[in-house]
Amino acid sequence: MMKKETKIVSSGRKPQWTRGVVNPPVERASTVVFESVKEMKHATANKTNKTLFYGRRGTTTSFAFSDAMTELEGGAGCALYPSGTAAITNAILAFVEAGDHILMVDTAYEPTRDFCDKVLKRIGVSTTYYDPMIGAGIKDLMQSNTKILFLESPGSLTMEVQDVPTLAAIAHDHNCIVMLDNTWAAGVNFDAIAHGVDISIQAATKYIVGHSDVMLGTAVATEKYWPTLRENSYLMGQCTSPDDLYLALRGMRTLPVRMKQHGDSALKVAQWLSHRPEVATILHPAFDSCPGHEYYKRDFSGSNGLFSFVLNCGNQAAITALLDGMKHFKMGYSWGGFESLILSVSSIDKMRTVSHWPYQYPLIRLHIGLEHVDDLIDDLAAGFERFNQVLLANTSADKR
Ligand SMILES: Cc1ncc(COP(=O)(O)O)c(C=O)c1O
Repeated sequence: MMKKETKIVSSGRKPQWTRGVVNPPVERASTVVFESVKEMKHATANKTNKTLFYGRRGTTTSFAFSDAMTELEGGAGCALYPSGTAAITNAILAFVEAGDHILMVDTAYEPTRDFCDKVLKRIGVSTTYYDPMIGAGIKDLMQSNTKILFLESPGSLTMEVQDVPTLAAIAHDHNCIVMLDNTWAAGVNFDAIAHGVDISIQAATKYIVGHSDVMLGTAVATEKYWPTLRENSYLMGQCTSPDDLYLALRGMRTLPVRMKQHGDSALKVAQWLSHRPEVATILHPAFDSCPGHEYYKRDFSGSNGLFSFVLNCGNQAAITALLDGMKHFKMGYSWGGFESLILSVSSIDKMRTVSHWPYQYPLIRLHIGLEHVDDLIDDLAAGFERFNQVLLANTSADKR
């Protein structure tokens, strides 16, 4: 079978989209004009079928990118959205109606939870949160009106890896659609559809784009669900800019090499952190300290730059000293770009409703960028020095 690296170089490059050059042109359009009634009729009859019809249905730039994503994830088609959040919310909305119920993983990205608690609730769709490690226990939460089982693996911030094949098999027994936020694996390190997922969703904003300059969402569906997903995306008026799609397609070509470099450096940093006295645990799927590590070993082919660790001491002043002085790690609410990022979170227990968070001290999430790993480790070492100085000063003041 063709390897992912090879597939990514050629995917979406049909001559009808590229017109002979390597990359498809940026084709901006609202209006498509026809010279004859026959041409217009043909376009109208084939408007869902990648034929130029009207800007909102896409142009050759979006056709090339959605083909490339479909090939990458092995589905029947890919719907495009102006953000990862729009991909998640629109994929869910495409399949629910008042009176339905969905199962949402407790470790979902916070805006995904907010959408369930605010928008779904308002339209009469109920949500039950489940522990990411529930496995076969999910069958006890299935109701006759459960339409969607939503997964995110690894989980946001806390990185739990889910047993996707087991969860998917039980969901299918109950006639339930399986959706996965597959952003972490980016379509290269975990084959969602081959593991039983019906709709694989990504914030392409992260690794697909890879350069921190575009917001974009994708949802790749299997044959069974693609027509409904595509039509609902159209009905909801979802469309994306060809300039952004061009950048996403360009980013995608280097995805496997970037992921490998991010992953190798992140493993080195995580190893180094695991020996630090200030660290309680490493939450990286490749470490056996991470819940679901066994599923990572079984189902994934690699990692990337995003992981977390939990402190085993500290206070806000010490953490602020660590964060404020970083040279390479900047604070930002994102990841997946070429640059390193750092984020401290002290309220994990307030962000979950059914899973237990056993740690007392804050979690730090890192995104390991493409800088040299030695510089990143030096930066963190200096950060811990500032952190310890503040703690030491506090202890001395207490003694006085
Ligand atoms: C796991 C995950 N899913 C979805 C999103 C949402 O993507 P976007 O910011 O493009 O809406 C994010 C953003 O951080 C994320 O981390």
